Amino acid sequence: MITVPLAAYEDDEGNRIEYDGPPRENITIAFRGGGNLVRVHAKASATKLHVDFNSSNGTFILGANPHQRAFSAGVRVGEDATVRIGNGVSATAAVTISAVEGVSVIIGNDVMFATANQVRADDGHPIFDVRSGKRVNKARSIRIGDHVWLAYGAMVLAGATIGEGSVIGAGSIVTRRIPNNVIAVGSPATVVRKDIAWERPHLGLVAPFYKPDASTVQKSKYWNRTVENGTAIRRTFLGRVARRLRRMVRAVRSPRASR
Ligand SMILES: CC(C)(COP(=O)(O)OP(=O)(O)OC[C@H]1O[C@@H](n2cnc3c(N)ncnc32)[C@H](O)[C@@H]1OP(=O)(O)O)[C@@H](O)C(=O)NCCC(=O)NCCS
Repeated sequence: MITVPLAAYEDDEGNRIEYDGPPRENITIAFRGGGNLVRVHAKASATKLHVDFNSSNGTFILGANPHQRAFSAGVRVGEDATVRIGNGVSATAAVTISAVEGVSVIIGNDVMFATANQVRADDGHPIFDVRSGKRVNKARSIRIGDHVWLAYGAMVLAGATIGEGSVIGAGSIVTRRIPNNVIAVGSPATVVRKDIAWERPHLGLVAPFYKPDASTVQKSKYWNRTVENGTAIRRTFLGRVARRLRRMVRAVRSPRASR
């Protein structure tokens, strides 16, 4: 195993770091095996980040951090696995991220991790059915959409997806699909409120110090209604076109119901 700080790198095993930003000693990468790829945006930064390639043909991608947000993480990337972290992602304390056995963890832009968060696409150790010998706990990919907030102690487990703009409550465990712009809590996490939007500026630090309604904040682009069976459709031209198309399809399928 070799551990290197973030800088352009290539070795005889085919491990490679693609990065042309300034040296960043607080981002380190450990390589075992070969054919692993690290691609880090020149404007990326982290308070502390360690990526551990456990075996071969893994991929780790990190986006820009234009607002220099605090971000720290311990990332495990196994055989043929991928971890991709978007732009402007923050973490109050180190988030644990793991993907092995060819699956991926995709984390969108502007995601906000709190303290003690974990994102685990695998369980770390295999569990088998004693009669059939079949694997019980297969690794499964995870996708966290843009502008998702994971509150203190929340975990995201194999196979989970979280739609953009949603909030996962403190101590909650996400195991399935959570739609966009909802609050989901509990274990397993379930939706307790739809059609919500949250904003990043801290309640205690950014005036006005009482925020009884949305007139007190600058709205981000993530103010959307919850879409039950699909991805969030923003209130944009494309969103309006998509909504109109859906209405037309409904009208063709069921002319009476759509009236
Ligand atoms: C997710 C959260 C923001 C939602 O707050 P809220 O909208 O005021 O939610 P409410 O208090 O109205 O709770 C709604 C329901 O969910 C339940 N609930 C709320 N948070 C929960 C949690 N973390 N786990 C389990 N259930 C929870 C409530 O008991 C309530 O259930 P009920 O309707 O049966 O009584 C909040 O619960 C939370 O987790 N706060 C911690 C934030 C944090 O970690 N901040 C650290 C800095 S990033």
